[in-house]
Amino acid sequence: MTQSAALASPALGKDEQIEIAAASDLEGLTMRLAKARGVEEILRVVRGGARRLVGADGISFVLREGDKCFYADEDAIGPLWKGQRFPLERCISGWAMLHGEAVVVEDVYADERIPHASYRPTFVQSLVMVPVHADDPVAAIGAYWARPHKPSDESVEMLKRIANSAAVAMTNVALFSSLNAAREEAVRAKDALILAMAALADTRDNETGDHIRRTQHYVRALAEAARRHGLYQPQLDTELIELMYKSAPLHDIGKVGISDAILRKPGRLDAEEFAIMRTHARLGRDAIANAERYFGGTTSFLTIAKEMAYSHHERWDGTGYPEGLIGDAIPLCGRIMAIADVYDALVSDRVYKAAIPHAEAVRVIASERGRHFDPALVDVFLEIAPVFQEINSQFSNPA
Ligand SMILES: [Fe+2]
Ligand SMILES: [Fe+2]
Repeated sequence: MTQSAALASPALGKDEQIEIAAASDLEGLTMRLAKARGVEEILRVVRGGARRLVGADGISFVLREGDKCFYADEDAIGPLWKGQRFPLERCISGWAMLHGEAVVVEDVYADERIPHASYRPTFVQSLVMVPVHADDPVAAIGAYWARPHKPSDESVEMLKRIANSAAVAMTNVALFSSLNAAREEAVRAKDALILAMAALADTRDNETGDHIRRTQHYVRALAEAARRHGLYQPQLDTELIELMYKSAPLHDIGKVGISDAILRKPGRLDAEEFAIMRTHARLGRDAIANAERYFGGTTSFLTIAKEMAYSHHERWDGTGYPEGLIGDAIPLCGRIMAIADVYDALVSDRVYKAAIPHAEAVRVIASERGRHFDPALVDVFLEIAPVFQEINSQFSNPA
């Protein structure tokens, strides 16, 4: 039965109708508290509904702050102590929190636990104070009346129920924020891991540092342009592009497993050396898979990083390595990285070859459309080639 239906029902007495209305209001307040994601929101919900439910002239919400009680919020017919702090031992909310018990005071001026000087400027003559989280109180809720009287059992009971709901809400908020902190921690750990691993590759291979940063930016530029063209939808969304951007620095991480004699050889590699060099794709994937095991489970980031490390030397026509995958059997991140990687190798000096100019590199990529590279991606690349040139000059350290 809805609240208005209950109130309109002639079969119920007035007291019963009011009780049902209060119960449904309490339910609403409890639900709003359950959804609260911050202490501010809890305060707002209590301030907005508690006073009417309890039938009091004022409500205050007091937070425990070490050995102080902080009067964080109030809703009352006259000002109380909002914004003020008192020592726990010198106020009644402190007493309720220290003892984990509700207090009912019929006449505040007859109770020694009350600091009378603080009450004189206010309307308060009687009160109920209930701790939030009786086992380990983190707050208290007070209800105040402008006349000395014994607050009804219903009022005390209602205030306790509100305090219980607030206690659950505050536990939720604490869990929610520690969960968020843990998530942020995981993101930081992941970012640190990428940097550490990429830096490791950097120490092995002089070219790798700038190459890592440039390919990361080419990958994002190419992926964003492909998305603008409506390619590979709906998978290629902002989230995937961000994952590719973040995992790109790991694409050559497997090179840490290749000996200096091969990695730094001045001149072309022979067939045997080249076969060893090619293992960097597999080594990279395995290194990331190892990291994944330490994390105790996969993340979308590590999945993309693994795919990119393993597939960036595949070719559209199936002549690449390590699997010889054909066409769109090659993961999208690998196809995107292939263009970024080759473009960067072409326009850079390497120990075994000199750089070629941007325009020539663009022609080489175009000539490999449908052979080495995904044809749709080459079309996008040709459109945004000046962006590649710009990234190249922006992230090149003149040695
Ligand atoms: Fe590579
Ligand atoms: Fe590379």
